[in-house]
Amino acid sequence: MEFLDLPPMLGAAGTVRLPGSKSISNRVLLLAALSEGETDIRDLLSSDDVDRMLDALRALGVAWQRDGDSLNYRVVGVGGPFPVKSAELFLGNAGTAFRPLTAALALSGGEYRMSGVPRMHERPIGDLVDALRQLGADITCTGNEGFPPLHLKPATIRSGGVVSVRGDVSSQFLTALLMALPLTGVETTIEVVGELISKPYIAITLELMSRFGVRVEREGWARFVVPGGASYRSPGTVYVEGDASSASYFLAAGAIGGGPVRVEGVGRDSIQGDVRFAEALRQLGARISMGDNWIEAAAPEEGRLRAFDLDLNHIPDAAMTLAVAALFADGPCTLRNIASWRVKETDRLAAMATELRKIGAEVDEGADTLRVSAPAKLVPAAIDTYDDHRMAMCFSLVSLGGCRVRINDPKCVNKTFPGYFASFAGVARPVPVVAIDGPSASGKGTVAERVAAALGWNYLDSGSLYRLVALAATRAGVKLDDEAALGSLAAGLPARFAGGRVWLDDDDVTDAIRTEASSAGASQVAVLPAVRNALFDRQRDYRSGPGLVAEGRDMGSVIFPDAALKIFLTASVEARADRRYKQLMEKGLPANIENLLQDLRQRDARDAARAVAPLQKLPDAVLLDTSDRSVDEAVAFVLDLVRGRGLAAG
Ligand code: DC
Repeated sequence: MEFLDLPPMLGAAGTVRLPGSKSISNRVLLLAALSEGETDIRDLLSSDDVDRMLDALRALGVAWQRDGDSLNYRVVGVGGPFPVKSAELFLGNAGTAFRPLTAALALSGGEYRMSGVPRMHERPIGDLVDALRQLGADITCTGNEGFPPLHLKPATIRSGGVVSVRGDVSSQFLTALLMALPLTGVETTIEVVGELISKPYIAITLELMSRFGVRVEREGWARFVVPGGASYRSPGTVYVEGDASSASYFLAAGAIGGGPVRVEGVGRDSIQGDVRFAEALRQLGARISMGDNWIEAAAPEEGRLRAFDLDLNHIPDAAMTLAVAALFADGPCTLRNIASWRVKETDRLAAMATELRKIGAEVDEGADTLRVSAPAKLVPAAIDTYDDHRMAMCFSLVSLGGCRVRINDPKCVNKTFPGYFASFAGVARPVPVVAIDGPSASGKGTVAERVAAALGWNYLDSGSLYRLVALAATRAGVKLDDEAALGSLAAGLPARFAGGRVWLDDDDVTDAIRTEASSAGASQVAVLPAVRNALFDRQRDYRSGPGLVAEGRDMGSVIFPDAALKIFLTASVEARADRRYKQLMEKGLPANIENLLQDLRQRDARDAARAVAPLQKLPDAVLLDTSDRSVDEAVAFVLDLVRGRGLAAG
């Protein structure tokens, strides 16, 4: 299973150019295909769901061309029903392709087979099929009644009259009917049965149809009259707005992570209902501003986001983002009227509840509600994404709580936003890590500790963890080659660092871990993968704001490969032996320079040859040779680099 580890973030600020709207992209493609004339589409979304629509249109005899690698497409409309009268279409999990194409094909007088991924075959389409059957369409559900796959056959379509469709499961059924009915050429009235959900998506459909020359009369949200004799005509050029649902993650990032974060591509004039997510954020106390083509969000003037209790039926997709924003609110939050979540890419109500609990939240999942209470402290977790792009994007926000988070199967964002994680990295600011690796006795401990103190950052002396494991093992009578026992010992190591002292349970072991015996033991246990793995997360937990200086040989390679600054701190073997000699003399301990030299040479060779986490200078590490430098000079050198890279003020 592929995964992406997001580090804890300090905050978020910056500007994001949004990809095109999925809802608009797939509607415009279909309308352009059914139109008379050619349509130039600008800024089309490039994603899996749009690719499914493009592939289907080509298979149905619609010619289209992409302008090089750009997001601009030209579609040659067929001016009526599809010319290809027999086709098999695979539509993945793209509801915005599957539903509208079902209606358009049912009225195209051919024989078509339509299928998708297994999840698509669990997503209902029965209400749409029923409506089309009222018109005379011949549609068979070849698996379960009411669900894809579908088999469509030529049929005599009744002309005109009234057709009814349910509106309380998915608004896409109504969208599909609306867009297809002009193919009949006669006036048809649609009556919506049940309370229509997700109304703003119907508004998008009507707006785009009218741009293509078909004006639908509507009475409230219950009756829609598609006029007779109407046919689609290309408006020439259509610009696709940025995706307002995709905007929600960045606006939330601004509201949670300080901000301001600005999204470009949607704004005050957007036809997408999800821009109203910004209003919801404002109710939570976020500071929102808007222009024609941009929206910006920043955190409340002071304090956390306000707890909320909101009916979110009008923004079902962006509402998921609020479920995660609830982790950052000052009290329990309730999301209402979101039953449609159950029939989306996954059962989003169940998925959201399960994954929020992993982060430590208390969650009540109702039939159509979700109540989320944030934990006192977010818990790092591996988030499953259920092949649902929005799960992946939503949970990236957890990192803004200073909590690392693993996103399983991150590529699921390709459905609507292939560049999502790159865009997120463009605004989210990771807790900076300075990783100082280097050989034994190079002075890296002293330098690292002093750099941390000067910056007011956290400090991790990773070597001491291996020393502690060795010491604890010796005390517990565990053999230093018993990998399994050492691994579980390391996993539950009762070590604490406080006030410059090191504790094992209630024992002050500050000096005990510095003895030669502990050193030798540490280097023995440090080669065991079970021990290293057991200490992996423990070391990563040291990463918290405002920053971390981490010292030890695999800090920059294994534990914090994304460290903002990597230093390889070394010194000639003679200089190191000399320093060790002086230290031992100061402590009144016996010392022999020849022995120390030989000892260090052997240790270097062993460390460099070690199979697990060998000592090495990484290509992206800065070399700091302290043979001829004082500690003060070495510290100043590192601090200059830290400040020069903008990792700390000063
Ligand atoms: O840096 P030190 O001398 O305190 O390290 C003690 C031992 O642990 C030494 O053998 C190197 C090993 N070590 C390691 O393998 N990985 C680290 N990140 C730190 C230390």
